[in-house]
This record gives sequence, structure tokens and C-alpha cells, in this order.
Amino acid sequence: MRLVIVSNRLPFTVQEKEGKIEFEQSSGGLVTGISAYLDHLKTLNTMEYVWIGWSGGSVKERHYDEVRKRAFSEYNSYPIFISERSMENFYYGFCNKTIWPLFHCFPTYAVYDEDFWDYYKKVNEIFCKSIIEILREDDILWIHDYHLMLLPKLIREIYTDLPIGFFLHIPFPPFEIYHLLPKKWRTEILECILMANLVGFHTNDYAQNFLRCVLRLLGLGHDLGNISFSNRTVKVDAFPMGIYYRKFFETANSAKVQKEKENIKKIFKSAKIVLSVDRLDYTKGIINRLQGFELFLEKNPQWHGKIVLLLIVVPSRTGVESYQRMKNKIDELVGKINGKFGSIEWLPIYYQYKHLSYENLVSLYAASGIALVTPLRDGMNLIAKEYIATRTDKTGVLILSEMAGAVKELAEAIIVNPNHKEEIAQALKEALEMSVEEQKMRNDIMQKRLSNYDVVHWADDFINELMKLKEQRINFARKLLSSSEKIRIIKEFKNTNSKLILLDYDGTLVSFKDHPEKASPDENIIKILRILSETKGTDVVLISGRDRNTLQNWFGDINISLVAEHGFWIKEKGGDWQLIKPLTADWKPKLLSFLKLYTDRLPGSFIEEKEFSLAWHYRKADPELSSIRVKELMDDLISLTANIDVQILQGNKVIEIRSLGINKGTAAAYFISKNKYD
Ligand code: F6P
Repeated sequence: MRLVIVSNRLPFTVQEKEGKIEFEQSSGGLVTGISAYLDHLKTLNTMEYVWIGWSGGSVKERHYDEVRKRAFSEYNSYPIFISERSMENFYYGFCNKTIWPLFHCFPTYAVYDEDFWDYYKKVNEIFCKSIIEILREDDILWIHDYHLMLLPKLIREIYTDLPIGFFLHIPFPPFEIYHLLPKKWRTEILECILMANLVGFHTNDYAQNFLRCVLRLLGLGHDLGNISFSNRTVKVDAFPMGIYYRKFFETANSAKVQKEKENIKKIFKSAKIVLSVDRLDYTKGIINRLQGFELFLEKNPQWHGKIVLLLIVVPSRTGVESYQRMKNKIDELVGKINGKFGSIEWLPIYYQYKHLSYENLVSLYAASGIALVTPLRDGMNLIAKEYIATRTDKTGVLILSEMAGAVKELAEAIIVNPNHKEEIAQALKEALEMSVEEQKMRNDIMQKRLSNYDVVHWADDFINELMKLKEQRINFARKLLSSSEKIRIIKEFKNTNSKLILLDYDGTLVSFKDHPEKASPDENIIKILRILSETKGTDVVLISGRDRNTLQNWFGDINISLVAEHGFWIKEKGGDWQLIKPLTADWKPKLLSFLKLYTDRLPGSFIEEKEFSLAWHYRKADPELSSIRVKELMDDLISLTANIDVQILQGNKVIEIRSLGINKGTAAAYFISKNKYD
């Protein structure tokens, strides 16, 4: 078994500098998490793996071979080369100007451009083509993130039984925001993701948002996160991504980092260090954070000269204008705050715009008494978790935004609303005044939690669940007739003198439609029924819940028997319609007026009135409101019909009320007992 990881970003980004190829380390949560897990797999040597993704930067064709070789030998990776133009529209365009702002609930930043969408589809297809060249039948495929949401379907079209997992590393937005995407895009994205076997999110809130969008936009409900779609079951669940806890803890304890930590402390002359590290992104709330820090300095002059904000901003997506605008704003605000409060001896903010090596980062964590992590919206945020893991003596205070996915596991941090600068200023004060015992008590709880559910646990959990679903699928798979079985049935059919064929109609001979009238039989069905009816020694019975007039119109001139209204009416071959037994429907007027009330309360629902039954259809109604109304109606019907001889049935988007004692089974038994069939 081999694990095939696919993501847009690989652990390296290839750059061409002065005609030479350079491999630089990529940044971001996805790369950090997956790299850590794959490093772990490498040490275990139990599962083979490969990582497929975009090469990063633009690479000239003459360097392809060199990049491929290095990528494979050093990273077990297969790079995909994508033209600058495609990346402009796909990555900088659809991914980062449409999906990223929308999914992070910044709808005003979102751009809806048809070309971007076309390139998004095109690049997903390029990924698919490259993957199938590498994929083997017994692989497990794990697709990551918002860049590749169409991929599960593209791969599924070729590999029908491959275990495919999809994990989204950013938030999934509430329905009201997701709904802003053009109709075609929003349904296609959902339908493509649902072709995976397992769909994972960082938090249960995101999973619930996704399930609600699936219900509202595709009309598909779920059962404990399981959705039936396209003849398969897809599971949707939350898997909060962890960090490589042990590695961070051990690195922080290493002599090198300890030395570096002391150096940093010396540089800042024992001032309390507040650390802020992020990729440059408007979702990270860097401006709000600076405003919070400014307010803190305004309100707390006693801390001037005794505190420093270490602001590290990691360059990213420099091709997107909103990112450049934000960088300018940060530069200005840092200058303003330093000018307003600083002096020759003390600079309140120490600002760096650069990439950090792993050890540099850990040294900064270790040297900082406070970590200020206040994104406006963040799928998870691993910085918060990494900071806690490096607190080897258990001191230190984490200030964390309630908008980060990580807050669900780090409830002992000081939690703030990042939109409110007063809360940030107040949290800084509280952190500075927090006793060492209190710090240790809080960090101890968080460390235990993070070390238990680390990145290995996260990935193992996801993969094990995916494998479990594969087994279940094998066990519950619909048994299709093999060609030898088909041949045997045909042979026996031909050799038998007296045969009875019992057929259902809706959902069997025709698929369900918005309105029952639209589900009329096509020429082909009529032709097959005619052939069967003329086949020697063969009786055909069509048993339906439809009213007798409809059946008469559609099939009246074919020599078969018909059963209408689930068994109340029977028309034997060549005969007339007859009631199976004397019946009354005096209950109908009362229940009909009651159903009308519900029809008014659920737009899109309608009543189908038959002689001995009433059917209330809601296929076209709002799915969320339907599920509420259906529960209410069932409840009311049960008490209303307690003393009436009727039966209430819940079918596929329909509730049916009919007289008691007769059903399709009774009708079938009637025909079976009539003749001696072989
Ligand atoms: O999940 C979002 C993500 O892929 C993270 O891994 C990371 O924080 C960020 O986006 C990286 O963005 P990019 O690949 O655009 O540099």
C-alpha cells in the first residue's frame, strides 16, 4: 500500500536565479503538517509514500529534468510544471482572489471571474493527468486543500474504487457566504468534493457548514455525517490537525536553541518579548493586532521600555494586489507606533519581513514570554500550537483569537475577539500580570492535549478512517449480476413455461422527478413491456402507488395486469378495474384540509389526491425547512389519526396517508396465489 499525497504546494519552491535552479523551503500550515507526518513515516519505514504538487515559481523547460530528479531523490516528490499564465489565473486568480477571501468570510475581497474559473478547472485537469501517470491500483490518495477541490471527481472517473480522501485546510464558510459563488461553480465544487470517500475539516463548525451547503444546494441530507451521493456513501468529519509536538519540544530544549534564546533576550535587554509571526495575509489580523498593541502602550505607560513586540511577517502571494496593499499598511503603522512611543533606547516594535528557518523560529518561541496570535479568521493556526510545544519550563502566555480553528483545543489561552482592539490591549495586560503558577497550570493542560493528538495521530486517524470506509464499501457494495449469472437467468427464463414478473414503477422503471406527472414512461419502457406481455407463458404485473387513471393512460393498451394506489385497485390482464375489497375514504376531507395547511407553510410542496390515499410531496421545497415541517407533520398526523384506520408512510421526499390493511405485498401475494408458476 502506498500513500499518495497531492497538494498545490510541495515542501519546496523552485526558483530560477541567474540561470540556476534553487530549492527553497515552502511555508504554511499544510506543508509543515504533511512534511512532519511524512518524516515520521520515513523513520518507521512501514508505508511507501510520494508527494505530488506544483513545482512553485516558474521553471524553464530545459530545467525540468534536473528539478524532477532532485525533487524525487531529496523529497520523494513529483513536481508538476504549470505555465505562468495558468498560475496567474488559477493560483493568484481563482484560488487566492475568489476562494481564499470567500472561505475566510471576506466577501468584499472576492472576485468572480469566468476566466479564473476556467483555469481552475484546467489546472485541476492538469493535476489529474499527472497523477494518473503515477497512480497505482492499490494506492491511497489523499488530496489537500482548496486549490484541488475538483480533483476527487476527476480521479474517480478513472479509478472507481480507489480510496480517496479530501482535506480542507482553510475554513468552510457558512451557507450564506458560500452561496455568493455563482450557481454553476458552487454546485460543481460540492459535487466534485463528494466523489471522495472521506472529507475532512479542521473543526466540527466547518464540517457542519459544509453539510448545510450540501443539503441546501444539492438537496442531500446526512446521517451522522454520512451522505449518499452517486451510488456511494461519503463521510464528512472533523480532524483537527496537530503539530510534530515532540520535535518542537526537543528542539526547544537543544543547546543550540537555548543559547540562541539567551542571545535574543540579551538583545532586548530583558524587556518582555511579545511574539507575532504570520504569513503576510489580511486574514491574519496583523493590522488589528498592531492597533491593539498601540492602545496597550497608550493605556499603560508603566510598560514603556519594558516590552517589545517582535513582529515577523513572512512574505507570501506577492502577486495579489490586496497583499501588497496590506504590506504597505503594516509598514506605515509600525513606523507610526515606533515614532509615537519609541526613543533612542527603546523601539516598541521590532519588525522583520522575511522567511524564518525552523531553528530560528523555535528560538523566537522559546525567548518570547507572550505569543500574540490574533487572526481574523484562520482554518487552524499551527503557530499557536507550536508556541505552546516549545515552552519547556511551562511558562509563557498564549493570547489567541476566537476565530482560529485552534481555539477549540487551546481553551486555556487568553481568548480574544481580534476585531476589538480593547480586548487585545486588555489581554496583553492580563498576560504580563499573570502569575508563573497560573501560566504553568494552563500550559500543562494544553501541552498534554497537543502531545496526545499530534500531527501523526491526526494523519493516522484520517487514513485509518479512509481504510475503514473502504472495507465497509466492499461489505455493503451492491451486488451486481455477473455475466455468468445473467446468462443463467436468461437460460432459466427461456426454459420455464409459466412465469410471473412483478414490477414496481417509480424509482424502478423510471427515476424520481420533481413532479410525479413528469415521470411518464418513455418509448423504450413501453416497448419492453409490450415484448414481455407477448412472450409466451409470461404474466406481467405492474404494481404502483399511482392512481388508476394515470396507469390506465400510460399502460391501458398493453396486455399486462395493473395494480394502482399500492394495491387498492387491481386490473387483471384483459379485465376491468376492481377494488380489492370494499373500502371507504371518509377520513380524506379532514386530512386533506390539514395537509393543505402544511402546503401553505412549505412553499414548493404539493398534494397528490388519489381515491383511497393522499400523498404530500416536498421534493422541490427548501430542504432545511422541509426537514422541520416533515417532523412537525408526522407528529401531528400520528395524533390526528390515532382513531382512524389509516397508515402513514414516509417515502422518498413524500409522506403518504392511506387506508389500512392493503399494500403492494398483498397485491403481489394475490397474483402469486392465482396460478401455479414455475
Ligand atoms: O491551508 C491554507 C494553506 O495552504 C496553508 O498551508 C498555508 O497557510 C497557506 O495556505 C499557504 O499558502 P500558499 O501555498 O499560497 O503559500
